[in-house]
Amino acid sequence: MDKAPIVYGTEEHKELFCRQFIDTHKPFEPPDLPWPELSQEVIDKLAGFPIWDYAIHTERQVFNKLTAYANEIEDPLLKEAMALQAYEEGRHADILRYFLDRYGIPFKEIPDKKLPSNLEWCFMTTGAGECIDSFFAFGFIQVSKSTEDYPIELIEAMEPVVQEEARHILFIQNWLYYQRYSRSFWKQPVHFLATMYAFLNSGLSRLMDMKDLGGSAFTAQATQYENSSGLNARGFIDLCLRENRRRLAPYDKRLARPKLIPRVMGMVRHAL
Ligand SMILES: [Fe+2]
Ligand SMILES: [Fe+2]
Repeated sequence: MDKAPIVYGTEEHKELFCRQFIDTHKPFEPPDLPWPELSQEVIDKLAGFPIWDYAIHTERQVFNKLTAYANEIEDPLLKEAMALQAYEEGRHADILRYFLDRYGIPFKEIPDKKLPSNLEWCFMTTGAGECIDSFFAFGFIQVSKSTEDYPIELIEAMEPVVQEEARHILFIQNWLYYQRYSRSFWKQPVHFLATMYAFLNSGLSRLMDMKDLGGSAFTAQATQYENSSGLNARGFIDLCLRENRRRLAPYDKRLARPKLIPRVMGMVRHAL
C-alpha cells in the first residue's frame, strides 16, 4: 500500500531524505571494487582522455566544500547526511586516483582552490552541477555498455559510484525543497529564483569548462558515440530520461525527484 505523501519542508521530510541517504550508503574502499584486467590498447585509450586531472580536482573540491558546509550545519541529522555525502565525494577522488595508479595512467594533482564564504550557496551551485552531470552521465554509461567501446567489466566496476550519484541528486533535490518550504511563505519565491540562478550558473560554467578542455575533442567524441551507438541526439535524451527514472526508482516514492534538467531536456528534445 502507498504511504501517505509527506509535506516538503517539515521535520518528517527532513528525517526521510536524510535517513534514506544515510541508510543506503555502501561502505567500501577503492581496492574492493571488482577491477578487471585491461589490455594495453584499452589503457592507452583511457590515458588519452584529457579529463583525469580535472575530474580528481573536481571531486576533491566538492569534498572540501561539503565538509566545510557540514561543519557549519547545526541540525545533527542534516549534518550527518551532509558529512556522509562529503565523504563519498572524497572517496570518488580516491577511486579515480586508485584506478589511474592501478592501470599506470599518469595524472597531475591540481591544487585545491580557496573555498567561497557562502557555503550554503556553494552547495546549491555544486548540487545543481551534480544534477546536470548525472543526467547525462546516466545516459552515457548505458551507451558505453551497448557500444562495447570499453570492457563491460570496467563499467560494472564503477556501478556503485554511478548509483551513488543518483543518491546524491535525490538528496540535493530534497534538501533544496526542505530549505525552500521550511522558510516563511514570502521567502520561498526568493529561494526558487536562487535555485534557478544556481542551475544557470552551473550550466554555463560547465560549457566554459568544456571549451577550456577542448570543445572540439568533445564534439568528436559525441560524433563517434553517435556512429557507434546508432543514437541521434533525440534518442540520447530519451535514454537519459529513462535512465534517470530507473536509477531513482529504488528510493522512497514520497521523496521529490530532480525535475528541472529532465524538463529542460524534454523541451530540447521536442525542439530537435
Ligand atoms: Fe562525485
Ligand atoms: Fe556526487
